[in-house]
Formats: sequence, C-alpha cells, structure tokens
Amino acid sequence: MKVAVNPAYEIDIHLSPVSTIDSVDFENLQFGKVFTDHMFEADYLDGKWTNCAIKPLTKLQLHPATSALHYGQAIFEGMKAFKNQEGKATLFRPDANLSRLNESCRRMAIPEVPEELFMNALFNLVRIEQDWIPNTDDGSMYIRPYIFATDDFVGIKPSDTFKLVIFCCPVARYYQKPVRVYMQEEYVRAFPGGTGAVKAAGNYAATMMPLQQIREKGYDQMLWIDGVTHNRLQEIGTMNVFVQIDDTIITIPTDEGTILKGITRDSCIELLKAEGFKVEIRDVTIQELLDAHKTGRLHDAFGTGTAATIAPIGVIGYKDIAYELPPVEGRKASNWLKQEMWSIRKGISADRFGWMWAV
Ligand SMILES: Cc1ncc(COP(=O)(O)O)c(C=O)c1O
Repeated sequence: MKVAVNPAYEIDIHLSPVSTIDSVDFENLQFGKVFTDHMFEADYLDGKWTNCAIKPLTKLQLHPATSALHYGQAIFEGMKAFKNQEGKATLFRPDANLSRLNESCRRMAIPEVPEELFMNALFNLVRIEQDWIPNTDDGSMYIRPYIFATDDFVGIKPSDTFKLVIFCCPVARYYQKPVRVYMQEEYVRAFPGGTGAVKAAGNYAATMMPLQQIREKGYDQMLWIDGVTHNRLQEIGTMNVFVQIDDTIITIPTDEGTILKGITRDSCIELLKAEGFKVEIRDVTIQELLDAHKTGRLHDAFGTGTAATIAPIGVIGYKDIAYELPPVEGRKASNWLKQEMWSIRKGISADRFGWMWAV
C-alpha cells in the first residue's frame, strides 16, 4: 500500500505479519522500554528526502564511520498520542513539534523536514499503531522522531546525508513520586550562542555525568543554573520549571536562547492565564528561591514536559541541603493544570486553543 498527499513524499507501507502487542503488560509499562510494531524511516540523499517507508520495527545498519556517532550532528523530538474518552486516537500539538524540529534542524545544519512529509509519516504511523495507545488515565503513546547525519566520513563538516526515523512507545506515568531536583553552579547545560534552545542530542550527552553524580545523592534531575551569572534558574533536565512565590506563578524566559521552548510550558502559560492565575515570565535567582522557601512563600514548584506533563517538585537540593516543598495535595496551580491538561486530552474539557488533532 502506498499513501501520499504529495507524490514527492509517497510512503511505502509494509505491515508486520506479526504483532508483539499481546505480550505487553499494559498495566506495568516502563517508560521508553516497550516499542510498537512499526517505524518510519526516510533518507536525505542528493538534496532531498526520499526512501520514505513505514515498516516493521528493526535495527538500523550503520557504517562504522557514520558521522553522527562521532560528531553528534543529531536532533530529536518528543510528542504524544492519546485516546480520548470516545476511544479515538489524537495527537497533542504536532504542529508545534514540527516547528521546533525544524528550528533544531536549522541550528544543527540539518535539512528541514517539509510539513507534508512529517505529517504524512506521523499520521500514518500513529493510525497503524493506534491499538498501542493505552486507554487508561495515565497512558499515552510517546512518539520519538529523530534525525542524524549519515555521511561515512572522518572530518568536521556538515553531513550531506541524513536519516529521519520515527518510532513509538506505549507509556504510563513518567514519575511515580514528586521529583527531587538539585541545583549546582559547577556544570552548565547551556549558554548564549550555544544549542540549549534546540533539541540537539549533545545537549543531553553533556548532562549525563552531573546527572550520575546527583543520582548518587538521591536526586532525580538537575535544575540547571545559567552559565553567565551562575545564579539564575534555567530548566530541569527534560522539563521547563515553574515556581509559585506568594500568589504569582513564575516561569523562566526563553529569549536568551538557552532554554528549550517547551510545548507543555507554552500550554501551561496559556491555560493559567486564561484561568486568571497571575503569571510572570521572568528570571528567578537561586537566592530568591531559597529566600521564598525560608519565609514560607514558595507554595508550589513543578516541571512541565511531554513525558511527565506536570511533575510536582518535592525537594530542591542545593549545597547538600534538601529543601522540602509543601505537600503536593494542597498545591493549587499544579494540581489544576494537571487535571485540565488531562481533561483536554481526554476530550472532556473544551479544546479552546485547538491543540488536539484527530488521527
Ligand atoms: C531540555 C528540555 N526542556 C524542556 C522540555 C519540555 O518540552 P516539551 O514540553 O515540549 O516536551 C524538554 C522535553 O522535550 C527538554 O528536553
């Protein structure tokens, strides 16, 4: 079967004769460890995207000199498909993911992916895999598009060839408990002029060693501090950060180009403002945060991201002191946001911003 809106991006579809779906324990899904039956693959060759195919999930065969493996010219996205209350498959803001994917491409000298190609690939893949979207309160199907440089080459230059892959994982809740985050000034995730604002693979590679260190101290994620003043909050490893001081919900500006423009962050800002919460987009320093904690004015703190949606922060660590935050049950903003995001995705609350796309 072939499907295409534009014949230039015709997708060859080969369905798997067997499915592993019956062997999956949907009640105990571990995030990112279970994969659906099919994947999408395309190549960038001779200046255009070609070889578009949906096929049974399989390993990639790579030349040992594949340049992304040495030089890290690679980017990715993360998005989700849901089942609404009528059991229909939907996608949350895929247009925003495509636009960020292409922003990442531009920064990393990777050819952009045309909208027709991306949407055609995505919607066909999700349609084929829709039985994998868990129909549970916490369940969804995580979708991972990524692009990497495929020139077989030793030497620093932008690759001429690339591979785009999309695969899917049925997932449940990301964090079982409130997140413990840690702030330190020694290691920096991103700085002005760098790649912090895009989803470049290397951004994450550089965080592994500091992450390993704080995991040994019992923390889940780093709350990164900026590399210029070594004083301002940036974001959590895979989430944007929000804090509530007094009655104001504050999140960090992204205009310095060091923080990923989270789609969940943007959605939360819109929802909070529409509900009448007082929202400020401004810098927060370590000192302001600790002072607010000391004086009992830090009422809520949470991370926002596709994987976890809204993850309440239970503890903020700094210089080996664990600052406990108020009990999660009493927090107004993050609990309301969590419920509202869930209701929109389930099709219970009105989709006032046009975020849900029927598959
Ligand atoms: C570094 C970083 N910040 C923030 C986010 C949250 O972005 P989004 O809400 O679009 O998933 C992510 C996840 O994509 C991330 O990797």
